[in-house]
Amino acid sequence: MKFFIDTANLDQIKEAQELGVLDGVTTNPSLMAKEGITGKENIINHYKKICEIVTGDVSAEVISTDFEGMIKEGEELAALHDQIIVKVPMIKEGVKAIKYFSDKGIKTNCTLVFSVGQALLAAKAGATYVSPFLGRLDDISTNGLNLIEEIRLVYDNYGFETEILAASIRHTMHVIDCAKIGADVMTGPLSSIEGLLNHPLTDIGLEKFLADYKKGNE
Ligand code: E4P
Repeated sequence: MKFFIDTANLDQIKEAQELGVLDGVTTNPSLMAKEGITGKENIINHYKKICEIVTGDVSAEVISTDFEGMIKEGEELAALHDQIIVKVPMIKEGVKAIKYFSDKGIKTNCTLVFSVGQALLAAKAGATYVSPFLGRLDDISTNGLNLIEEIRLVYDNYGFETEILAASIRHTMHVIDCAKIGADVMTGPLSSIEGLLNHPLTDIGLEKFLADYKKGNE
């Protein structure tokens, strides 16, 4: 399972990278705005900075909603760095754009996916990643994990190579549940990854080991 961090915060990206288990970064316009990154030039520079920190894929989202606009933006983004994945929304024009990018060898992440039908279309169009939004479905009393399970079944039925990127992960249990049902990738906050570290028996055990060592070596 690949681990992506879902943020545009450079300190958190560095911290996750230093842990040694990070495979990439996802961003979106809201995450960029949260960091105060506005204006085309600043946004472009920020993507470049992220690519310098991590070695894996970095999703950069287009703002246009028409085919021509998405192509123009996506080609500019892809040209920034070979780690850039063009993030395209799951709308009709987006599906056309994903097909266009796929034919040109430009990698894509189809975002805002909330149904199996949408995931099927994304895979047919040749998306590199499909992003079902787990947390946002849970927020409206709909089981987001069921959606990921269904997408896994459909993709496996036909051998689609599109990777299932479980997005909108909110906590550590989401990460574990996604791993159990075979999501290829998770993207979430740093806390959802670092939470995997925690177990009270580890802390108690380490404390005892160190205390016993101290006793025997005083
Ligand atoms: C996906 O790539 C999105 O950036 C993200 O996971 C959305 O998460 P949210 O629902 O917590 O905003």
